[in-house]
Amino acid sequence: MTSPLSALSASHPLLDGRTSDSPLVRAARGDRPATPPVWFMRQAGRSLPEYRASRAGTEMLDACLTPDLAAEITLQPVRRHGVDAAVFFSDIVIPVLLAGVGVRIVAGRGPVLDEPIRTASDVLRLRPVEPEALAPITDAVSIVVRELGDTPLVGFGGAPYTLASYLIEGGPSKDQLRARAMMRTDPRTWATLLNWCADVTGAFLRAQVEAGASVVQLFDSWAGSLSRTDYQRRVAPHSRRAFDALRGFEVPKIHFGLGMGEMLDLLPPLGADVIGIDWRLPLDEANDRLGGRLPLQGNIDPAFLTGPWNLVEAHVRDVVARGAAAPAHIVNLGHGVPPETDPEVLTRIVELVHDL
Ligand code: CP3
Repeated sequence: MTSPLSALSASHPLLDGRTSDSPLVRAARGDRPATPPVWFMRQAGRSLPEYRASRAGTEMLDACLTPDLAAEITLQPVRRHGVDAAVFFSDIVIPVLLAGVGVRIVAGRGPVLDEPIRTASDVLRLRPVEPEALAPITDAVSIVVRELGDTPLVGFGGAPYTLASYLIEGGPSKDQLRARAMMRTDPRTWATLLNWCADVTGAFLRAQVEAGASVVQLFDSWAGSLSRTDYQRRVAPHSRRAFDALRGFEVPKIHFGLGMGEMLDLLPPLGADVIGIDWRLPLDEANDRLGGRLPLQGNIDPAFLTGPWNLVEAHVRDVVARGAAAPAHIVNLGHGVPPETDPEVLTRIVELVHDL
């Protein structure tokens, strides 16, 4: 049954009361709960030995599409660290794969395409993601949400520019030169491709929200390779289109991009409720650039995580103190957990933040 006020079902955790008063959801809506919420981008997988044991013998994207396994990996960091949110174990290229594009994740490298998308006819061959194809996602999210109780699940998707960069480059690249070349030389094909990316990411986000995710995050890992003007003209409208897929669902939305310090002010009109800040910009400064109007998420520098605890602690205290300038603050890293991180450090950070 759908609630009369919302596209969410009445049994969604935001509507039946399970997560609506959780520290994460409250902070994302601009409130300051007694304990600041903390979770970590890329907390699922990577540094956890229990993750490596669960994943043994299974390809990364196969693991993402096996609901029991994806659910188990999603829950592992919540059990271990006591974080205030789970983040769905999946990948930004999953909706691309589910739309029929050949892609694998190569360990230590990232997504690699069987055939890069480089011409107008490559783009015209792309098909939408069919709703039935998203069943493994819906199934995994449903299991996770049932197990989580009052801890919210963060769903996510890749922003159109980051997805398009992988599709055009065929894999990770240093400065997205081929992608930016298409943007320059064939703006119509570019716009068609970014719309397709926005739509597959939008379908992926919506599937997670409908199945019970309480917050979503859009990741734009490569946006920092763009000029402010190009971001504004050639990319931002497509990121807004990805968020528009959630119109009617009053779920808090986080927008996180790397290297976007000089264009932060362009983000709020695209639809996010919270802006994620990478490690480059102190939170008080980010808050000034945003006019003090939005909750912030971030921004512990992952480079501290392998250092002595006294340095980690001083840095976390500084991040939380600067975050106090913003209307609300969700403590997180300034980018994902590096694979070599000692999980014990993450647990201690959660304890420290909860004691502050
Ligand atoms: O814990 C979480 O945050 C949830 C799961 C998650 C993964 N990828 C799982 C994963 C999330 C949110 C992502 C997002 C993602 N994937 C992004 C955006 C965030 C960012 O970090 O900038 C990007 C660019 C990708 C694409 C991708 N997938 C890359 C670049 C890599 C790294 C390759 C490597 O081995 O370092 C992956 C692989 C990947 N995605 C792993 C995990 C747990 C590692 C897979 C393994 O253990 O072999």
